[in-house]
Amino acid sequence: MVDRMKDPDSKPAHLERRVFLKSLLAGSALLLLENTGIDRIAQAFAQESPWTSIPPFQPQHPPGLGFPQSVAAGDPTASGAILWTRIDPSIQTGLAATQVDSSLIQWLDGETPPPDSIVSAINNGTFVLLEIANSPDFKKPILRGYTPIWKDYDQVVKVDVDGKLPPRSLYYYRFITQTGHVSPTGRFKTLVPAGQDLSSTRFAYISCQDFSSGYFPVLNYLAEEELDFVVHLGDYIYESVGKSIYQDPLPDRKITVPSGESKAFTIEDYRTLYRTYRTDPDLRRLHENHAMVSIWDDHEFANDSYYPAVAPDDNTASNPVRRQVANRVWYEYTPARVTFDPKKEFAESLCIYRTLRIGNLCELILTDQRLYRSSHACGSGTLDRYFTKGCTAVNDPKQSMLGIHSGQKEWFLNRLTTSKAQWKIWANEVQFTPLKLLGRWMNLDAWDGFAGERLDIIRTLKKNHVKNLITITGDLHTFEASLIKEDFKKDADRKAVGVEFMVGSVTSSNVLDLVTQIFTKSQSLSNPLPLEVIEKITQVDKEMAQQVKAIKEEKHKGITELSSSHPLLKKLFENLISLIRLENPWIKLFNSSTHGYCILELSPAKATWTAYSVSDIRKKSGTKKTLLFQCEVPKDKAKIRILHK
Ligand SMILES: [Fe+2]
Repeated sequence: MVDRMKDPDSKPAHLERRVFLKSLLAGSALLLLENTGIDRIAQAFAQESPWTSIPPFQPQHPPGLGFPQSVAAGDPTASGAILWTRIDPSIQTGLAATQVDSSLIQWLDGETPPPDSIVSAINNGTFVLLEIANSPDFKKPILRGYTPIWKDYDQVVKVDVDGKLPPRSLYYYRFITQTGHVSPTGRFKTLVPAGQDLSSTRFAYISCQDFSSGYFPVLNYLAEEELDFVVHLGDYIYESVGKSIYQDPLPDRKITVPSGESKAFTIEDYRTLYRTYRTDPDLRRLHENHAMVSIWDDHEFANDSYYPAVAPDDNTASNPVRRQVANRVWYEYTPARVTFDPKKEFAESLCIYRTLRIGNLCELILTDQRLYRSSHACGSGTLDRYFTKGCTAVNDPKQSMLGIHSGQKEWFLNRLTTSKAQWKIWANEVQFTPLKLLGRWMNLDAWDGFAGERLDIIRTLKKNHVKNLITITGDLHTFEASLIKEDFKKDADRKAVGVEFMVGSVTSSNVLDLVTQIFTKSQSLSNPLPLEVIEKITQVDKEMAQQVKAIKEEKHKGITELSSSHPLLKKLFENLISLIRLENPWIKLFNSSTHGYCILELSPAKATWTAYSVSDIRKKSGTKKTLLFQCEVPKDKAKIRILHK
């Protein structure tokens, strides 16, 4: 297990200082030369390659050819980011290796020449050239290096340039193969060093992007935003590709996995999903424009999964081989600062919980709520997990979301209570605040199924006087703004200890989609709640049952073409939503009829949360973006001031 208790920013100080000063000096020297007008000399300086006779690879083809999944940046720091691409194996095959080895990267400003074996590997084309520049024309690259293509990791390239670049700046990057194929250009921003003052930071977050359920206009709008980075809260892929009798995928968005199954099981199945998702032009554009900070939820492996590698919808027995494959492919395709050790078993092979600091303003604490979590407290049946009366086991101290033996809970509480950053932003996959309907728990796969651990976290926050905690959440395909309290029923709003802001999905079905699906029977497998649960709710509530009957009768007479805008259906949905609002007064804003993204802007005085909605995800073009909600949280107060609803 990676030791996460130490300072997350720690690295050998002499090394960081040396590399940092070097890049800074190179930058100032270039600036000096430019200012004196000797541009030609500046260029020669920038392109000088002191250790090698290998001339830098040059672009010879139109950008993008040979890079079907484009580029991506992730986990930005004050001095770099992880940079990623994948090379089409028909263009070039890379190095065979059991493990990705970052020491093989050969920086062109390196002081010692590489051994002959590396020089010949570069000459053989198993390496690519990475270029980073301050402008997209790459006339004056500020950092260049040869880095391997990882053949056994599906031909991806992963480079960590942390420690190499000055802070608070925008950088452009691209990859060039020995054959002259050049990737699309990506860009990312370096952050403000931990502890330093800054006036604001602005980042977005998203979750739940089922490729087959819709197009990604949400990501297209998000790509256009001015941001420091984007957080992905999970369900980046859906393991389920469905069968036509169950699912209603868009005709041009159907995915078939090599095993021929309705879900991903093999390494090639999972790779096919990531490869296919990354061919989407909007997702590619998002990655090209912003660095992404990613965690997973369940669908990167399997629905409602838990330790030890159990996918309860498929089999209640552990399947460590499938989980390890899912871990590996997530690692291959995600530009995250984590290592993967294939020799270790699935719970140890990688560790995705980690933290990211932005000046003195923000510590983003990212947790893993799937790899180590306990099984469902009250049983594994659908109606034990959803719309259930619950059981006392949810309060059992052994019932853990973060894992009893993973070390994550101790690490998490330590970060929350010792962080020196003003805002503690918790990237949390599933709903933290309770969600009840008709006196039952809506979803024990979320924190309601781990109520004892939730209370423990809240009490730790109170005991340590932790202020300015904001939880950002995905999973439910719903926008929510809620207050976190020790006693949700009895405590007044002024006793809140933090705030939860949930983002709706990019495409995956929301509650309105589910209500519609009761009648159309076009069940999507990316539903946040199983369809039978929504049917059950309408049977339990008399008024809703009558509404369902009326719609069925009308449909039976052939009068109606059912869509989510049908008045009877709208009424049924509104009835359901008003009940949710009534029974969960800590939820101040709730919308489950649209898709979109959220932006969090932090300043020393306040946090501003903005939710955007996108009109129609089943249309390829002509969609509209609208402001859905906006709220402020003043500093030191767990309060939601609604500005727009
Ligand atoms: Fe989801």
